[in-house]
Amino acid sequence: MGQQKIRVAVVFGGRSTEHAVSCASAGLILSAIDRDRYEVLPIGIATDGRWVLTSGDPVRLALSAGSVPSVESVSVGDGEIVPRAGAVLQVSEPGAVPRDLGAVDVVLPLLHGAYGEDGTLQGLLEMTGTRYAGAGVFASAAGMDKEYMKLLMSARGLPVGRYVVVRDRDWRSVAERKRVLDEIAELGWPVFVKPARGGSSIGITRVSGFGELEPAIEAAREHDPKVLVEAAVDGIEVECAVLEGLDGAPPEASVPGQVVVDPGSSFYDFEAKYLASATTMRIPAPVPSEAAAEIRRLACAAFDAISCEGLARVDFFYTPAGKILVNEINTMPGMTPASGFPMMWAASGLPLPQLVDRIIQTALRKRPGLR
Ligand SMILES: Nc1ncnc2c1ncn2[C@@H]1O[C@H](COP(=O)(O)OP(=O)(O)O)[C@@H](O)[C@H]1O
Ligand SMILES: [Mg+2]
Repeated sequence: MGQQKIRVAVVFGGRSTEHAVSCASAGLILSAIDRDRYEVLPIGIATDGRWVLTSGDPVRLALSAGSVPSVESVSVGDGEIVPRAGAVLQVSEPGAVPRDLGAVDVVLPLLHGAYGEDGTLQGLLEMTGTRYAGAGVFASAAGMDKEYMKLLMSARGLPVGRYVVVRDRDWRSVAERKRVLDEIAELGWPVFVKPARGGSSIGITRVSGFGELEPAIEAAREHDPKVLVEAAVDGIEVECAVLEGLDGAPPEASVPGQVVVDPGSSFYDFEAKYLASATTMRIPAPVPSEAAAEIRRLACAAFDAISCEGLARVDFFYTPAGKILVNEINTMPGMTPASGFPMMWAASGLPLPQLVDRIIQTALRKRPGLR
């Protein structure tokens, strides 16, 4: 008699601006997950927050210049999730979260950005005692907020660049706005203006002089009332993928890779990330071996600095002088065919089906709650 398969809810889409990216991540993972071991429930969260069962068709979930995938386009309606014995997620509001989501062995939240990668979904799963892959509530929230991410990195002695935080209250007060703008001018030009809790470069502007600053801050504020302004770092972008160690072992880092941005883009913006065919990953990154070792060490230290679990991708700048700076940590890195995380693990000897397996198995070994 064959054993009952492990039931995995792959949750994707979501309410954030990264809905389409999440669909593309799900498309890749759904095409690689081992169906002999896992029974997969492809659950989409529509942009309005509704949870629906989907076909999970990887072809329709692909992201390209000509097609922006959405949960809507693969939805097969709700109410079709076959219940199974076990803990059941109880919701009293109709049409919110499927009642039977709790009857899965583990949730794989392939969501990027707000309401998915920021601890909110993780909180919901904690409340319902559902096992899930990846970072918990705190690490998700800390990784999402670029201000606190940097504070935690600095507190752990990790190198980060110079930046100024523009809070909503600062921006609304004439005197505070002036103080903050003066502080920003001291960073030198260019600067990068970004929403504190954004992703996929959405809302980010490279600003080369004071005249462009206020419109860029306003643009970032469309996505988050808190904005970060950072001194531009001159250097190449190097990423490193991290996995939680097995059975309590320290985290493991992949071979680092360099993002080679499409020459038509001024930085690694949304277009360069997902649509430009000329953006590529160079793996291993062309840095001296001591620098690669240091990047791997820092990637694991960054993972631990926010108490991350499961997986993460840590992004760095490597300057012409050989300095390494942490740019950010992503607790649910992109998993699209153009994304560094799956590529760097493949180059490190962990092909995608095994990578997905490892992420799910790590989650299954933990108890829900204070895991
Ligand atoms: N301080 C900086 N110096 C140079 N380039 C930057 C800086 N901050 C951001 N960028 C560019 O913008 C991209 C997106 O910024 P990032 O902080 O990684 O935001 P996101 O979370 O949206 O990916 C980076 O990959 C890089 O190309
Ligand atoms: Mg980034």
